[in-house]
Amino acid sequence: MNILVLNGPNLNMIGIREPNIYGSFNYQYLVDLIRTYSKQNNFQVEIYQSNHEGDLIDKIQEAFFKKIDGIVINPGALTHTSIGLLDALKAVNIPCVEVHISDVDQREDFRKISYVSKACIKTIKGEGLNGYIHALDILIGK
Ligand code: DQA
Repeated sequence: MNILVLNGPNLNMIGIREPNIYGSFNYQYLVDLIRTYSKQNNFQVEIYQSNHEGDLIDKIQEAFFKKIDGIVINPGALTHTSIGLLDALKAVNIPCVEVHISDVDQREDFRKISYVSKACIKTIKGEGLNGYIHALDILIGK
């Protein structure tokens, strides 16, 4: 099984940005966590972060041609604005799980809207970095 994990703007800054919301573990810790989990559970994983909407759209389109089986996406702030990401996920039609480290429903009203959720089989919020493992479990059927 081949899984793509995508992180959007400012997720490379976890551990530094608003630790009271996103915790004190950094982005490299998240990458190591996911890689270790993929080895333990025998699936292939590609992990990609970008601060640019178009780069993320390119990666989603590429996933179609690389025959990726599942996508985990935390689009960061693009969650609340990007119809382009929604359209890309709909275009490739690959099972996708949306993750948010924080509980976006308990924050500002503008964070309650997610465009990408319309193309996702499930949304996980407020579970910290463990939310990524939860999302992977859904995709690998664990
Ligand atoms: C986030 C929540 C978004 O509202 C925010 O813009 C982020 C991170 C989360 O993981 O909790 O950058 O997606």
